[in-house]
Amino acid sequence: MRELATGAQRGAFDEWVDMMREWHRELDVIPDPAVTLTTKFADSVPDEIGFGRYAGHRRWERVADIPAPAIKDELLRLIVWQGDSEVRAVEQARALLDSAPTDHDRDRLARHMTEETRHGWQMAYLLVTHFGDEGRAAARELLERRATRGEALLEMFNVRLNWVDVFSWHNWGDRVGKYQLTMFAGCAFAPFARSIAPMLKEEGFHLVIGYQGMQRICAANRVPVELHQRYINRMLAICYDAFGSEVSKRAQKIHDWGLKAPWGDGIDNPSHANEQVRAAFIDEARKLLGLLNRLLPEDGPHLYLTDPRFNRHNGPYAGQRWHGPEQLPTAEDEAALLEICKQAGWIAPGEKRSQLGENREGA
Ligand SMILES: [Fe+2]
Ligand SMILES: [Fe+2]
Repeated sequence: MRELATGAQRGAFDEWVDMMREWHRELDVIPDPAVTLTTKFADSVPDEIGFGRYAGHRRWERVADIPAPAIKDELLRLIVWQGDSEVRAVEQARALLDSAPTDHDRDRLARHMTEETRHGWQMAYLLVTHFGDEGRAAARELLERRATRGEALLEMFNVRLNWVDVFSWHNWGDRVGKYQLTMFAGCAFAPFARSIAPMLKEEGFHLVIGYQGMQRICAANRVPVELHQRYINRMLAICYDAFGSEVSKRAQKIHDWGLKAPWGDGIDNPSHANEQVRAAFIDEARKLLGLLNRLLPEDGPHLYLTDPRFNRHNGPYAGQRWHGPEQLPTAEDEAALLEICKQAGWIAPGEKRSQLGENREGA
């Protein structure tokens, strides 16, 4: 058995699982039986660290193998933040479950919530199994914070969503997750690296939920494009922030210590690691918006890519006055949207194999 669980560790994890069940009860969430709540590890990852100052060394199987306490602390923090994002996503989605536009959407959201629970489970398992008392406390705290109280570590999970947001959210926000996880697959700490491939597979489905939902909104064309754009602006600005500052000493350190691989084929200046991956995300977002525009009438308004300088809260553009066309949704938009979403047909029906074409996410 690959995992290091001793009797005491297994006992501690069982306690965590009980706590998780209590958390589900409090949220009134019934896990989707199609998703098994369990740890999943990729069969293998390369034996050697691929980048940073330990490149060529063997990956670390145990916390005791980590060469310095500061590296262990940073790794713990990364796993805690990843785990927090997973379980806060469940809390954030919970409020939407009862107002789903169709059963199809409700079922998909429920599956999404259970898969995010599994990802939280996976991170809690790493914390409890590998990080001693500190890890057990961190795993417990994962279930003590609440997105509904604004306690998510990443601000993006404290945002209240409506059903137009939710698709945008899965399309953009889970896509940020896809990029982050892909980079963590290179992590020098092997149990974390092996956790990634199964998570990414499930994230692929979350991207489908988001992208197809946006396709269906565009195809129905009842939500005015300008209004949809303002909600996209809000989400994309949050997502741009989620990659971190354009130039970052911390990103440099995380790269140097082998904790997060650079996006793509490598990086010349690791202090620009955040910017490199954000640029890749932006390219993908631009392409997806182009595809969505094909579903809108040619002679009407079209969606556009939100400028990465708009409404930023980190990096050099934070707090700067913005002179471009981008705006955020207003209270009037929210009220208008509420009315639109009361009417049947505001979103095109979602089929398993949508007439709009199944996209290839997750394939
Ligand atoms: Fe996830
Ligand atoms: Fe996800």
